[in-house]
Amino acid sequence: MPNRPYVVGNWKMNGSRAMLAEARAIDRAAGRYPDVQVALAPPFTMIGAIREAVSAMGVGGQDCHFQAKGAHTGDVSASMLVDSGADFVILGHSERRKDHGESDQLVRAKAEAAVAAGLGVIVCVGETLEERDAGGAESVVSGQVDGSLPQGENIGDAVAGGRVSVAYEPVWAIGTGRVADVPDVVAMHAAIRARIIALYGENGQKVRILYGGSVNAGNAADLLSAAGVDGALVGGASLTADAFLPIIAAAGNGEA
Ligand code: 13P
Repeated sequence: MPNRPYVVGNWKMNGSRAMLAEARAIDRAAGRYPDVQVALAPPFTMIGAIREAVSAMGVGGQDCHFQAKGAHTGDVSASMLVDSGADFVILGHSERRKDHGESDQLVRAKAEAAVAAGLGVIVCVGETLEERDAGGAESVVSGQVDGSLPQGENIGDAVAGGRVSVAYEPVWAIGTGRVADVPDVVAMHAAIRARIIALYGENGQKVRILYGGSVNAGNAADLLSAAGVDGALVGGASLTADAFLPIIAAAGNGEA
């Protein structure tokens, strides 16, 4: 992997103060694998507490609004995430695209706001099973990359600095235990890389492309060593240190 591997846990709508011990244990593991960039995205309510409890890993949000402040009840802005101790944000997850009707255009606006606030971004893309079965996986995902990634004047530095990442998460592989075949992952990551280079030029090599969808201790080594896979975005298996550590170790080519 030419880029530093990036292993990110997405806690989704899970997590309470009772789970701080898990975050600390994950942080200790992150300290043992300095060649791997490890991060957790807990719910908003946990960002501050986890930030104070850890030192070696990143802490991020799972969404932000595209505006800095204002009359948007229930929403949180990118600068608020920074204020609470976050250093990155996951955007355009398929669960948000589905549950909240988020379009590529909205995800892009959020990503641009997040970069402007100084956050790293992980922009999620991925096809549904119907789209894959109809032979449309590559074109759907290419369209999402073109439409959702941040663009504009101030994006170049973030791209060059490795603060823009893409997560390829086939919707049918999320939370199902059904992981994508490695050759398919390699093909999709290559297609995504081509679109990223078209958008950003050669600097686009610095954009890390993570795989997400039923990553666990048993399949992490195969996925993380596949061509073009720069890391993993992990849901269920990031909720406990016991489940997450072997994935971090696999990214570091070591034993847990
Ligand atoms: P699972 O690892 O639980 O399949 O979730 C993947 C995901 O959606 C991470 O963002």
